[in-house]
Amino acid sequence: MRRGAGYFGMTPGFPSSPLRVLALCGSLRAASINAALLRAVARGAPQGVEVAIHPSLGGLPLFNPDLEADLPAPVRALHDAVARADALIVASPEYAHGVSAAIKNALDWLVSFEPFIHKPVAVLNTSPRARHADAALRETLRTMSAGLFGDPPFVVPLLGAHLDDDGMARSPDVAAVAAQALAALRAERARQAATGMPVFPLSSQAAARRASPRLPPAVDQWILPRMAIPHASSGQIVDILPSEGTLPSPKSFALFKSSQLEVMRVVLPAGKAFPPHRVAGEITIQCLEGVIDISVDGQSQALRAGQLMHLDGGVMHGLVGTVDASALVSIVLCKP
Ligand SMILES: Cc1cc2nc3c(=O)[nH]c(=O)nc-3n(C[C@H](O)[C@H](O)[C@H](O)COP(=O)(O)O)c2cc1C
Repeated sequence: MRRGAGYFGMTPGFPSSPLRVLALCGSLRAASINAALLRAVARGAPQGVEVAIHPSLGGLPLFNPDLEADLPAPVRALHDAVARADALIVASPEYAHGVSAAIKNALDWLVSFEPFIHKPVAVLNTSPRARHADAALRETLRTMSAGLFGDPPFVVPLLGAHLDDDGMARSPDVAAVAAQALAALRAERARQAATGMPVFPLSSQAAARRASPRLPPAVDQWILPRMAIPHASSGQIVDILPSEGTLPSPKSFALFKSSQLEVMRVVLPAGKAFPPHRVAGEITIQCLEGVIDISVDGQSQALRAGQLMHLDGGVMHGLVGTVDASALVSIVLCKP
């Protein structure tokens, strides 16, 4: 880890707490261009940003769910590093129009790992022609509910550039992409905090989380159901009809998420509460089935199947299922 002298210009006005970025390289080659790029990003990181490059992903065993009961040491080390990081940067090569086995294996070990959820991730691509791996990597990260950045992607054409570490660190192209990526990670981190999205690690709840592998209830409803559920893509039809007596799933889940809008099906069995909270953007809550007691700024109302409520951004609100209920919740995601 190195707190760089700052080759790369960055947006001024960063808060005093440093942004801790973990860099994952999908190439195991000693002379890897992707690894060199990540070293350059770490060297050039500006004041207020710390970039740590994770040791070779080649040390991880092949993913096997049977090993999850007693995680191998390299996997524990990866989990610890991800949990400590505020954001991730991934740089990985394309092999035969696919992602490298090393990065896919590492990501498989991170599926369902709570601190990974919503973690801002910037994907750097060292070759404009490597579109297949880039797209596949994003699809995997999106499915894992990463907070994903780079649209259009952070591409820096380094294949054939024959730059050594110093050359790469001083390359204006590298500097520009690194600055954009780090600024995007910082901005997403701030946006998540501003919209009230649970951001890991949740320092006040860290001890409780260590004591129990389950998250606190309010966080549980936001996060766990999102894991490994593919979000709907543009143009895709999603069935939201009530399920006649049986709730669709014991968990809430995200149906769709873009940079501007998130749509969730929130499932509230009778007695289940979504404690008072506020998000920066406007919200609509459409009750699909059952009855939901909604408290807005301390005042309760019953929202019944077929009814919809709009809330301005920043309004304190909480939900309780009074009869087994589910709702379609749409949130406008405000930029900080
Ligand atoms: C077996 C193999 C397959 C490759 N397949 C592709 C490919 O499908 N598309 C592509 O753009 N590059 C492909 N490449 C080129 C690598 O992506 C390129 O050499 C990259 O720089 C390797 O990353 P690294 O320098 O970080 O190790 C392939 C390379 C190898 C060795």
